[in-house]
Amino acid sequence: MRVAFELNGTPQYLDVDPGEPLVALLRRLGMKSVKEGCDTGDCGACTVLLDGRAVRSCLMVAPQVQGRKVTTVEALGTVDDPHPLQRAFLDAGAVQCGFCTPGMVLVAYELLGRNDDPTPDEVREAIAGNLCRCTGYVKIVDAVLLAARWKREGRWR
Ligand code: FES
Ligand code: FES
Repeated sequence: MRVAFELNGTPQYLDVDPGEPLVALLRRLGMKSVKEGCDTGDCGACTVLLDGRAVRSCLMVAPQVQGRKVTTVEALGTVDDPHPLQRAFLDAGAVQCGFCTPGMVLVAYELLGRNDDPTPDEVREAIAGNLCRCTGYVKIVDAVLLAARWKREGRWR
């Protein structure tokens, strides 16, 4: 079947298998920031934004994005020109192996889109569904709070 949607601002018209998991479709399209972790909705590594809301792409199939906007971390910044939220993760030491990082960044992006002055508990609640095996979460919370401060100071693009 044919599906039409927007991926990081670019229209897509694709023939897909109706049962193809969204995570597989996005990786097939080169969005390698979208990680396949548990494939059961438990780890958050496959998180993307769907019309601005964080969703687990392993729990969706390709036809479900028909007419919708999908955002992956590739839309935020690059290695040479990271988004301030990504820069905050780097500066706070919140990236170790990096497997969880794209999902963490996207749930943080969603949180800071509706609340640019979250408490540490609100950050912890936002990232609660995203697992990290490396950092112990403290530095991830620090990174989101740092990014929030930069956003309030007008340092986001
Ligand atoms: S791979 Fe989707 S939640 Fe773990
Ligand atoms: S940095 Fe390794 S899983 Fe989070």
